[in-house]
Amino acid sequence: MRTPLIAGNWKMYKTNQEAVELVRELLRLLDGTQDAEIAVCPPFTALSEVSRLLSASGAPLALGAQNLYPRKEGAFTGEISPPMLKALGVTLVIVGHSERREILGEDDELVAAKVRAVLDEGMKPILCIGERLEEREAGGAFRKVEAQLEADLATVMQSEAAGMVIAYEPIWAIGTGKTATPEDAQEMNSFIRGRLAARFGEEIAASMRVLYGGSVKPDNASELMAMPDIDGALVGGASLKAEDFAAIVRAAT
Ligand code: 13P
Repeated sequence: MRTPLIAGNWKMYKTNQEAVELVRELLRLLDGTQDAEIAVCPPFTALSEVSRLLSASGAPLALGAQNLYPRKEGAFTGEISPPMLKALGVTLVIVGHSERREILGEDDELVAAKVRAVLDEGMKPILCIGERLEEREAGGAFRKVEAQLEADLATVMQSEAAGMVIAYEPIWAIGTGKTATPEDAQEMNSFIRGRLAARFGEEIAASMRVLYGGSVKPDNASELMAMPDIDGALVGGASLKAEDFAAIVRAAT
């Protein structure tokens, strides 16, 4: 049995103070939640404060980061290293989000290096993959996802794979209110698990969590989570509202 993971990707929202308020509210609403792993991924500027708050509460809420630079230290102005995140109590790092690929030009080579860096620091990558609308319409969605998986997991060893999380996020469903149908998301997640099985073996693939992300809301979460190969959600917009995020967590449990 895979424990569902519901992770909130706050993107470039919430000042430090707003982040603290949101976490306080989440801790209140999610108190006593069982059978799901929950994570919040605030912007870098709020990680320290949120980390303190989470430790003090003792709540089983994991702290995630949205990105990192794949070097331990050095002259990389403006970047954040894996040890810096680890030292703050970060256990999960989003890697390869389509906004970074599309807006900031990250390619698979860089994404693969980031996956490697997260694993080397003893944290878990949440690797995001997914196709553009025109790729889906041209019948190329599966080919795109397969190519991303192959390139981004190039250096991952079988013994490391179980600690990874994959998030299928079709680009056309992100922030658009257009969710993939549960059937379409299931079909892709099942395909992803098949590729993982080919790469790492059936047993490991069966233990890995494959999430769905893209306009997940309280009113569509249950039907998505009911699908056999959807092991949770990477939530953007709805994770910024405590009530909505808590409702999505409830839908997964
Ligand atoms: P939305 O939930 O706002 O569509 O964002 C999804 C996402 O990109 C999560 O990483």
